[in-house]
Amino acid sequence: MKVSLHQPAMVKEVLYYLAPQAGGLYVDCTIGSGGHSRAILEKTDGKAKILGIDRDEEALRIAEEQLREYEKQIILVKGNFKDLHEILKGEKIKKVNGILYDLGVSSMQLDSRQRGFSFRWNSPLDMRMDKQQELTASHLVNELSEKKLEEIFFKLGEERWARRVAKFIVKERKKRPLRTTEELVETIRKAIPAEVRRKRKIHFATKIFQALRIKVNEELENLKISLNSCFDLLQKGGRVCIISYHSLEDRIVKNEFRKRREKEIKILTKKVVRPSFEEIRSNPRVRSAKLRAAEKCK
Ligand SMILES: C[S@@+](CC[C@H](N)C(=O)[O-])C[C@H]1O[C@@H](n2cnc3c(N)ncnc32)[C@H](O)[C@@H]1O
Repeated sequence: MKVSLHQPAMVKEVLYYLAPQAGGLYVDCTIGSGGHSRAILEKTDGKAKILGIDRDEEALRIAEEQLREYEKQIILVKGNFKDLHEILKGEKIKKVNGILYDLGVSSMQLDSRQRGFSFRWNSPLDMRMDKQQELTASHLVNELSEKKLEEIFFKLGEERWARRVAKFIVKERKKRPLRTTEELVETIRKAIPAEVRRKRKIHFATKIFQALRIKVNEELENLKISLNSCFDLLQKGGRVCIISYHSLEDRIVKNEFRKRREKEIKILTKKVVRPSFEEIRSNPRVRSAKLRAAEKCK
């Protein structure tokens, strides 16, 4: 099956805030299918260099294919951006001119019929970005306590029915382990009252799936760790640009920026930047995107 590529979010805004220059070195921490990296290279007439990172081998394979014409300008590394420091050290890079994070999952991951990120298809309850990782969504759903599941659904999914969903999962898994997305969706359906399901603007399983995905991939922890070291890797005048898709991620970014404001960085986005109405209309997946950017000043 042919995969449709990820449409990069807020490209115009990323180029504006990252302000890439010919001769500069940029880190794309979440290269996906390479849309943002391509934009950076086009903007600099192919004269910038990019270190592209992704946890997902499939993404790297696609990025390599998509950016073949720029192969001399790009180094691709399979890794977790929480290890940014070590990854750069491994490439003998001390400082860079810009760092980009486009958080969350790609369309290729969401649209995959095998990887379990979506409730739209029946597939194993997996949700790992990095297939070498052991922990899957199935482990969480079948092994965590009811209390812990409730906490994950409530905190990471902001699901009001977290307690009932956790209770129903534990009841269901006593009969047999929940192994597929369909089995999980059915359990959520039973837990959330019909009236509530009907009134929701989003699919009733969305929040639970989101919570499990964030937990499986430790998305919030990785972001915190990475932001803690990324400013040390920037040249003076270098910029960091972060697109997040979830209020919990955005809060981490906002707090990290605030902590460093004045002492070390200048915040370039006084208010969070949102995608234009036209972009949301042509690519609804960006509707929750929030961009923040900062410049290293010391
Ligand atoms: C929204 S997509 C990025 C799309 C990309 N900007 C493009 O234009 O195609 C997010 C990507 O980040 C990767 N990712 C998420 N968390 C990561 C982490 N901690 N380390 C490395 N890659 C990560 C995912 O595997 C996914 O491919």
